[in-house]
Amino acid sequence: MSPVLDARLEAAFGLIAAPGGAVHADIGSDHARLPIALVRRGDVRACLIVEKTAGPCEVARREVRRAGLTERIEVRLGDGFSPIFPQEVHSASLTGLGARTILGILNRAGSALPAQLVLQPNDTTGQLRAWASSHGYHLTDERLAPGFWTYTVLKLERSSGSDPAYQGLPEDVAQAWGPHLLRRQDPLLLAQLRAQHARLTEVTPHGRAAVRRDLELIERTLRLWA
Ligand SMILES: C[S@@+](CC[C@H](N)C(=O)[O-])C[C@H]1O[C@@H](n2cnc3c(N)ncnc32)[C@H](O)[C@@H]1O
Repeated sequence: MSPVLDARLEAAFGLIAAPGGAVHADIGSDHARLPIALVRRGDVRACLIVEKTAGPCEVARREVRRAGLTERIEVRLGDGFSPIFPQEVHSASLTGLGARTILGILNRAGSALPAQLVLQPNDTTGQLRAWASSHGYHLTDERLAPGFWTYTVLKLERSSGSDPAYQGLPEDVAQAWGPHLLRRQDPLLLAQLRAQHARLTEVTPHGRAAVRRDLELIERTLRLWA
């Protein structure tokens, strides 16, 4: 039996494609649920897990052994992409981490960085979309998943030229909320924007300039859908 994935990891699972015997890396895997599901019911032949610290690394090794998948999932101890060789993996996922941690890992990755990335930060996503635009990746899909927060999952693919996902949309709005989510008028995004709008409206009279800027951005976004 495959481990049951929560909505967040299921959304990441749905964006990972490593067909034809490709190898996928899951960085910061901990319980190894995503790689186990990927080799069992996805089209991924093999996975590499990288864990930074000994405890979660042991947890991942134990779960892979329990699943009987030691032939197809290898667990390595290390920081981000440092234990991975250039071209060793076709795609990689980083889920359940803060955006700053993910950015740090991506910026240190060098030539080990694969052509496809699936990223699920626990907090903000704007910086990751901006990173993609300035590092030769296009944002080819994105999903929202309900949970403790509403989680955003981004799919990035290496490509040249300007990213068509942003065409015809105000750049700051699209980078903050996601061009695909905006075009789809994703109901979870709409609910998120309305909730933030209500919260910020309450604090704005006492708020700093940054709060007023956030409110103005949300109002411009909501007007796009009016
Ligand atoms: C909160 S867990 C997320 C587990 C799983 N990916 C998920 O989404 O449920 C974050 C994991 O990332 C690992 N981690 C943090 N920084 C890392 C790094 N630079 N390289 C590898 N693993 C890292 C931590 O040890 C921890 O096990």
